[in-house]
Amino acid sequence: MTRLTASKSGSLKGTLRVPSDKSMSHRALMFGAVATGVTRIDSLLEAGDVLSTASALRAFGIEIERKGGQWTVHGAPWRTPDRALDFGNAGTGSRLMMGLAAGQGVSCTIVGDPSLSRRPMGRVLNPLREMGLKADDHDGKLPVTLHPSRISGFSYAPPMASAQVKSAVLLAGLGATGPVTVTEKTATRDHTERMLTAFGAEVSVDGLAVTLRPKPRLVGQTLNIPADPSSAAFPTVAALIREGSEVRLPEVMLNARRTGLFKTLRRMGADITEENRRTIGGEEVADLLVRGSKLKAVHVPAEDVPDMIDEIPILSVAAACAEGTTRIEGLEELKVKESDRLAATARILTAAGVTCRTGEDWLEIDGAKSIPGGGTVATDHDHRIGMATLVLGLASEAPMIAEDAESIGTSFPDFHGKLAGLGANVGPA
Ligand code: S3P
Repeated sequence: MTRLTASKSGSLKGTLRVPSDKSMSHRALMFGAVATGVTRIDSLLEAGDVLSTASALRAFGIEIERKGGQWTVHGAPWRTPDRALDFGNAGTGSRLMMGLAAGQGVSCTIVGDPSLSRRPMGRVLNPLREMGLKADDHDGKLPVTLHPSRISGFSYAPPMASAQVKSAVLLAGLGATGPVTVTEKTATRDHTERMLTAFGAEVSVDGLAVTLRPKPRLVGQTLNIPADPSSAAFPTVAALIREGSEVRLPEVMLNARRTGLFKTLRRMGADITEENRRTIGGEEVADLLVRGSKLKAVHVPAEDVPDMIDEIPILSVAAACAEGTTRIEGLEELKVKESDRLAATARILTAAGVTCRTGEDWLEIDGAKSIPGGGTVATDHDHRIGMATLVLGLASEAPMIAEDAESIGTSFPDFHGKLAGLGANVGPA
């Protein structure tokens, strides 16, 4: 069990290229595996979740190698794996794979760690079954076994805002007999649509409806993955809450469906500037310059949440250091993340002596001039809970401890080392 501790720090200074985007990394490997020819990926995220996806694809007979920092995926027909596919902690990997494997007409069994094993899979399996997938599950949870199935065209309107559900249905559509349309009630991250188009699929977008034409001929691509905005969120807030900080975060992906946190932080008074806007891997990126800032409380309405669905724990840390009471609404999806993140975020704040209140789908945080700290928080297999705990520790009077902190490696390997490199007091407890 890894225990990390973070304590009151001075200003943070320096440059940190945070790890590459997790959503894009999963997709680059998966799409390369169903494309003709070779896909070359530079700057793939080499972290637990993505390595689980690579290992699952190898079990389908796909050759994947890493040479000199570049990953190559040799697209080929899929064969039935001779073992269960262990997706570890990776919700995105496992759910997207259910759609992709359904479309490839192969059978497989998907398992995961204790966190993934308690997460709902019905949200993906229900529409896939309507498309013709034969699958066994355990009360809508893992282990899930897919059987070879004929997949039909389909039109689906997911009841929840979820890029994973949208993507799984579209990916099954790669092998469907007719077009597949997903109509969202709120727009979610569109990496699947963008990257599939780059691989040669015909994808049309009409407002909130995305349609994929069936059986496209995908062709291997050369891709470069930019830095993950959801990982950049942690050093961003760390710098904001330490006076005098000046931290540069190069190459942060700024897809409009991923930048809700930066927009909200600016509304709170955050000094975040974008430099050198450009395109990498088909996505807008910029270098962010973050300076220590006096933050004020904000009201976050439900419609703002999908664009920062992974950032609520770290936004709550910023709110704890802001003047006034912050209220965040529309948080029902938070309860089915790697942990019940609504409860876990409240646990971090309470452990640090910050006053907060939660309801069915909302969170209120009373900002404090001085944060007592001194608490211990178990990450409960949730990387973002571990990182948020440690960032709060940088502004607390007594140190904060994250227990089971190895979970941080699923998205941000050596998080504490990288933060320490900026001058933060963080390290093994
Ligand atoms: C992701 C979608 C989101 C997000 C997850 C990555 C993706 O999940 O929380 O970290 O890459 O499609 P939901 O689809 O459950 O909202």
